[in-house]
Amino acid sequence: MKKICTVVGARPQFIKLAVVSRVLRNSFKEILIHTGQHYDHNMSDVFFEEMSIPKPDYNLGVSGGSHGQMTGQMLMKIEEVLLRERPDMLLVFGDTNSTMAGALAAVKLGVPICHVEAGNRLGTLGNPEEVNRIVTDHIAALHLVCTASGITFLEREGFSDSIHLVGDPMYDAFCYYRARLSGKELEDIITLDGRTVPVPERFYYMTSHRQENTDRDEKLDQIFQAVDGLDAPVLYPVHPRNHERATRLCRKSGYQNIILTAPVGYKTSISLVNRAEKIVTDSGGLQREAFFAQKPCVTICDYVAWPETMVNRCNQLAKPEKLDILEKLGTPVRFDPAYQPFGDGHAAEKIVEAIRQFLA
Ligand code: UD1
Ligand code: UDP
Repeated sequence: MKKICTVVGARPQFIKLAVVSRVLRNSFKEILIHTGQHYDHNMSDVFFEEMSIPKPDYNLGVSGGSHGQMTGQMLMKIEEVLLRERPDMLLVFGDTNSTMAGALAAVKLGVPICHVEAGNRLGTLGNPEEVNRIVTDHIAALHLVCTASGITFLEREGFSDSIHLVGDPMYDAFCYYRARLSGKELEDIITLDGRTVPVPERFYYMTSHRQENTDRDEKLDQIFQAVDGLDAPVLYPVHPRNHERATRLCRKSGYQNIILTAPVGYKTSISLVNRAEKIVTDSGGLQREAFFAQKPCVTICDYVAWPETMVNRCNQLAKPEKLDILEKLGTPVRFDPAYQPFGDGHAAEKIVEAIRQFLA
């Protein structure tokens, strides 16, 4: 059996891994490397447990610090593992520092790289993930794209034969786990200060963790001011990056409509998407899930990440400014149930087939 080393490190990668690994292991020996980038129980273990992801073969324990420190330490440690394991291919997902570190380690050792979620572009190097995507794509041997826009971007950058349109593993996960919800996922929820509270009947679901929106009080506070006035409570599971800032701002301004919660597991998250009135987010994954569930979404970002979701204003960009967010939340949108540009829920099979053909 040929050997694939998969490198993951962050929450959205565990979700994609869950569906891909299940299929990959039927045909390949997978060695799983967790860089350690996300490490809290509710940012890492909870996904491995509830999505039955195999235990990593290696956990490198690298997290925090500057982008350079984190990436550099990962690069050194991943290289050691690749030298030991001598895989036939390296598999990486998305655009985190773990993605780029894995790819850099592999290319220097002559190990071909398969990049899942290739070709996604915002069009600015001011976004740290964009750097990771571009670098990874430019050293990858196999570009597996989620949607047609990914092909366009990659072709513009000179790629052709290495591109395969496979669909979005996030959509696979959404379909697979939505069919396996127990119905108990939304019984109650744990607040950031440790209280168990019932999930309200009507609510908005919000996440915000992008460095661009949350590293300054003013921006996160504008987002809070916008959603505090909505006609139903706002559930906001807080990424550890914002724990201190979000708690402090809510306490200082006495926002009553915002329920800060601890990060939730995947099944709870997609249950929240399914039941929410609308979604407010800056997450690449959550804006797609809103689209999958046909929920209006306002994405707080200056750049379009997933153009397919923007059709008929189903997903709208807003600046981190109260009035803009409220205006977009008030805009009517229309979903076309027949329009599903993210594949057929079987991206994982197509990913594995593309790898098989490449290595044959
Ligand atoms: C990373 C990704 C981003 C992705 C997000 C998913 C990069 C450049 N960015 O951003 O694309 O959307 O993951 O959630 O890789 N922390 C904890 N506990 C944890 C995880 C993080 O306390 O379990 C802290 C870290 O120590 C760090 C901060 O949160 O101080 C930010 O974490 P980091 O992994 O650097 O970036 P993310 O914002 O999570
Ligand atoms: N998510 C989750 N728990 C949370 C918040 C988000 O399981 O508390 C899920 C969400 O449903 C989506 C994924 O995490 O599947 C998105 O990851 P994230 O927003 O961290 O990263 P991004 O997609 O922006 O890279």
